[in-house]
Amino acid sequence: MTGAAKAIIAVLLIAVGALAFLLWRGQPATEAVGGSNPLDQREALLLNAEQHHHILGEMRSLLTAVALIQQARARDDWTAIAEAASGQGTRRGQTPPAGMRQAQPPAFRQMGRGMREQFDVIADAAAAQNGEAVDTALTAALGACMGCHESYRVQLAR
Ligand code: HEC
Repeated sequence: MTGAAKAIIAVLLIAVGALAFLLWRGQPATEAVGGSNPLDQREALLLNAEQHHHILGEMRSLLTAVALIQQARARDDWTAIAEAASGQGTRRGQTPPAGMRQAQPPAFRQMGRGMREQFDVIADAAAAQNGEAVDTALTAALGACMGCHESYRVQLAR
């Protein structure tokens, strides 16, 4: 056998060995990304990568807005409250990724809508410098955060 033939056989053996190792180890890592924890009984929203990224980004900005509203409320900075709240309200004017609406069960959409309406109320209450109305609407919005998080989770569709 020539040296070149020996080298080819060695490379093939290594490749077969690597493949066997991967098969033995189980599924490739990309599949695990879409996997779910069986202990988590919440309903899954199956989303593609773009929708998944979009919704979680929206969530993080909701949390930021709640924090900004709380901070501004402590010094009754009505302009800052109204600004943070209208950025999360029904008239915030953003375009969701294609198929986002259809991916959401009706109850999920309603909860989201109800929460957005509370941010409208916060913005209007801040414009009227009505602190109590700001607090009431913020409490209602937080109730929607909790209700939805108890019921739903997101999952990448394979
Ligand atoms: C209509 C449903 C719904 C509402 C209302 C809602 N969320 Fe979420 N949120 C979700 C879902 C679904 C997830 C993903 C949870 C999971 O898969 O574990 C999530 C995740 C998050 C995350 C984690 C983001 C990340 O990057 O992982 C934050 C923070 C968050 N939400 C904040 C909020 C806040 C604050 C509010 C209210 C002002 C709110 N959400 C209202 C459905 C909702």
